[in-house]
Amino acid sequence: GITRHYKFNVRLQNVTRLCQTKTILTVNGKFPGPRIIAREGDRVLVKVVNHVSNNVSFHWHGIRQLQSGWADGPAYITQCPIQTGQTYVYNFTIVGQRGTLFWHAHITWLRATLYGPIFILPKHNVPYPFAKPYKEVPIIFGEWWNANTEAVINQALQTGAGPNVSDAYTINGQPGPLYNCSANETFKLKVKPGKTYLLRLINAALNDELFFTVANHTLTIVEADAVYTKPFQTDILLIAPGQTTNVLLKTKAHPTNATFLMAARPYFTGQGTFDNSTVAGILEYEIPSVASSSNTSIKNLTLPTFPPINGTSFAANFSSKFRSLANAQYPANVPQTVQKHFFFTVGLGSNPCQKNQTCQGPNGTKFAASVNNISFVLPTTALLQTHFFGQSNGVYTTDFPSFPVVAFNYTGTPPNNTMVANGTKVVVLPFNTTVELVLQDTSILGAESHPLHLHGYNFFVVGQGFGNFDSKKDPTRFNLVDPVERNTVGVPSGGWVAIRFSADNPGVWFMHCHFEVHLSWGLKMAWIVMDGKLPNQKLPPPPSDLPKC
Ligand code: C2O
Repeated sequence: GITRHYKFNVRLQNVTRLCQTKTILTVNGKFPGPRIIAREGDRVLVKVVNHVSNNVSFHWHGIRQLQSGWADGPAYITQCPIQTGQTYVYNFTIVGQRGTLFWHAHITWLRATLYGPIFILPKHNVPYPFAKPYKEVPIIFGEWWNANTEAVINQALQTGAGPNVSDAYTINGQPGPLYNCSANETFKLKVKPGKTYLLRLINAALNDELFFTVANHTLTIVEADAVYTKPFQTDILLIAPGQTTNVLLKTKAHPTNATFLMAARPYFTGQGTFDNSTVAGILEYEIPSVASSSNTSIKNLTLPTFPPINGTSFAANFSSKFRSLANAQYPANVPQTVQKHFFFTVGLGSNPCQKNQTCQGPNGTKFAASVNNISFVLPTTALLQTHFFGQSNGVYTTDFPSFPVVAFNYTGTPPNNTMVANGTKVVVLPFNTTVELVLQDTSILGAESHPLHLHGYNFFVVGQGFGNFDSKKDPTRFNLVDPVERNTVGVPSGGWVAIRFSADNPGVWFMHCHFEVHLSWGLKMAWIVMDGKLPNQKLPPPPSDLPKC
């Protein structure tokens, strides 16, 4: 591989959406941010210079960071933030991955505007396991707030209520024609007839899983989270925040229309308010013989049909279709035996309201979220440094429960005390431990899906189901042959998912719900994976420019 150099200048930029101009944080003045392109095996150096008054930090979402945990980026987990005027060089090598990932800020809610695609091409002379596409196009979903997003989450945390929902969903930063005052801000994909396009889909939205479809076209899924999958066709797909999916779009040889809508709208099963709106973009055929979109009013185009907003059966059915290639060239190295079993509950709960405060959360409390009833509190220093230098005292404890601290029964009466405990607790794993983790939605404040993301690893999704996980029966149905391999999985609403991985990457690895609001509320925890004995099984010392707290 070669070394690729990128420079990220974090600066303010005025951007107008929905007829309102606001100043946002950008990388190099671009929104969405610049694309990183590399080949499998390349080293990537990204020099970040912070020109704004906010602290920043960047995460290369889904990059394995084998022995390069110092470059992973979540603030207060692997590094202290990059302060105003400071510089930090993220330095990592892409090993064994190809496909689409994305980068985003990983501190407070700054990822609302600080995000961009990562394209990982196969090594030179290694073809895709599908026909070479005519063109490759990023399709990044995002969320736009007219208000300042830092103010949105700060107000929610102070009052204990849910944050204000976004004003629009976006495709490549554009809300599209179905929003007021937005017709000029529409993503348009110009295509030629009879060609295959590779759409690299990224859900960078903060708080919503999205259905996506292109009217009158079928999509073929070929990859998820930078791992090839067995191809399958679908008219509508579902993508959770933190997930990436590559799809092939075959254009019609003889289209009768020149323009078709593509659109995305939320899948939502949770509590409280949500944005029920639709972002649309345009697929435009470049053919002189049929009327172009300038003659066709967008309002006359047919909006594709979507599953219901709470379409949980669609979600379960769709996610069960993903399979690894699991062939000689791209094997699925699923751990066949398990050394450590974990059962984590994930869900919402409450924190008490302080004296002299009125809280607007459930029953006068503050919304909180937890894993195993522990709402994770970020330390004021970075866990990875603390761990590496053996200074854990007073920073974190290693007593994270392997099972929920409050006995759990999804089908029973919800507990009348929904209070969660706070703490900075981690699980310590010896190098190369094979892990099975069952993630169970608690549904204490209502059944809700949670896209759980693990840093530093891909995992295999060996099973999923509704209701309570049954540790006797359910494992007999696990797929240990060709389960999908990914970095973000939806814990089904009112159900569970089981994943397996081998702890072969030393470091401190964050795991959290990729709904930003749930992350803010504490639905997160960290794994510490110890060094192995061999030199290539150890985390090297930190780079000299690693920011200090
Ligand atoms: Cu994309 Cu910890 O996140």
